[in-house]
Amino acid sequence: MEKLVINGGKKLYGEVKIQGAKNAILPLFAAAILTDDKVVINNVPDLSDVDNMIKILKNLGVKVDRYGSTAVIDASNLCGYEIPNGLAKELRSSIFLLGSVLSRCKKAKVAYPGGCDIGLRPIDIHIKALRDLNVEVEESKGYIYCNAENFKSTEISLDYPSVGATENAILSSVLCKGNTVVHNAACEPEIVDLQNFLVKMGAKVTGAGTSVIKIYGVKTLHGTLYDAMPDRIAAGTYAIAVAMTGGTVLLDGARYQDMRALLSKLSKTSCNIICNGDKIYIKSNGKPVSVPKITTQPHPGFPTDLQAPMMALQTVSDGVSIFTENIFENRYRHVGELIKMGADIVTNGRTAVIKGVPYLTGTEVYAQDLRGGAALILAGLKAEGTTIVKDVRYVDRGYEKIEEVFRSLGAEVRRE
Ligand code: UD1
Repeated sequence: MEKLVINGGKKLYGEVKIQGAKNAILPLFAAAILTDDKVVINNVPDLSDVDNMIKILKNLGVKVDRYGSTAVIDASNLCGYEIPNGLAKELRSSIFLLGSVLSRCKKAKVAYPGGCDIGLRPIDIHIKALRDLNVEVEESKGYIYCNAENFKSTEISLDYPSVGATENAILSSVLCKGNTVVHNAACEPEIVDLQNFLVKMGAKVTGAGTSVIKIYGVKTLHGTLYDAMPDRIAAGTYAIAVAMTGGTVLLDGARYQDMRALLSKLSKTSCNIICNGDKIYIKSNGKPVSVPKITTQPHPGFPTDLQAPMMALQTVSDGVSIFTENIFENRYRHVGELIKMGADIVTNGRTAVIKGVPYLTGTEVYAQDLRGGAALILAGLKAEGTTIVKDVRYVDRGYEKIEEVFRSLGAEVRRE
């Protein structure tokens, strides 16, 4: 198992080119199989989640070639409609393929999806949306069997604005005759990216970024060339790192419009932030002040994916901070590891109270999920002495060469 060894205490200086967004790329890959034409996607980050998605696509008979950060997807020979257990368990986003495969093959067999263990992560909202579209769904022995011979456009009302279920509802209905409306849709920027991509493929979708999305079914989609959006969570993680360690860093290719909830909190921690076009400049003296409250919410609220990195920052901030995690019920797995480093955190259900301490001390800690693992790396960058972050493979799911990014900014980090 690979680990990162971090000698903390260095301020960060320099420039980071922000990677393409993992959470946009995965649904884009699912969407790319909706046509027989070739689809070219730029800004594809080098991540294990992307590798797993490609494995699943290849298993369906889809050809995927990668040239650096460009992927060429050719689903003209799509022959499978089954996503087997071993592959689906690796990646929760395999669930998006349910909508795409149904659109193409009118049937699908998908194992229950996996992903980071950050809560129950049920898929009832996905299934209900499919049933609304007149798809017959049966669940048996860990598999979901779907028959979409009688697909019918309709009005779908999601019980909760689930990101994945919104994307799945769109992917299921773009090729379905008639008009489908998704109410209570998630408003995340990645859904806007999916809409933009589908529109370039010839789909008729409007409303992404709001809670009502309208899909006018078309007969076919065609190939396209598309630049995926930048990763707001990776950009946010790097911004938080600077707030913690101190230094000055330019985040190149970051969209501040998608990051307002984080940036407004960071500006209260004593950081100086300047946004200009697709650049965010962040300067910090490394002596942050606590933010009294962090409450995770669907976009445009504070993103759950930045809760753990933000908590790492609060552990060394002056004052007390109260976190409420509203999206996932098991997303405090980094807390025990941060406490090992000297953090003062008390949790009670979905709430965590963090009292800032003057310093953290390096020790051996275990990443247990993607964003929690990133939080431990940030803590290691700030801590006195050496921190060893084990099981870094969780972090590799979502951050492209994270140790190289921090090394380029002057941190002492190596992979072993
Ligand atoms: C996506 C993101 C993930 C992010 C999350 C919330 C991707 C690949 N992943 O995950 O990084 O943390 O949005 O912003 O884009 N739920 C149900 N039933 C369902 C679906 C969801 O109860 O059928 C619950 C989940 O358990 C969770 C909440 O709804 O508590 C939000 O989940 P959802 O928005 O669906 O997250 P994902 O799409 O899985």
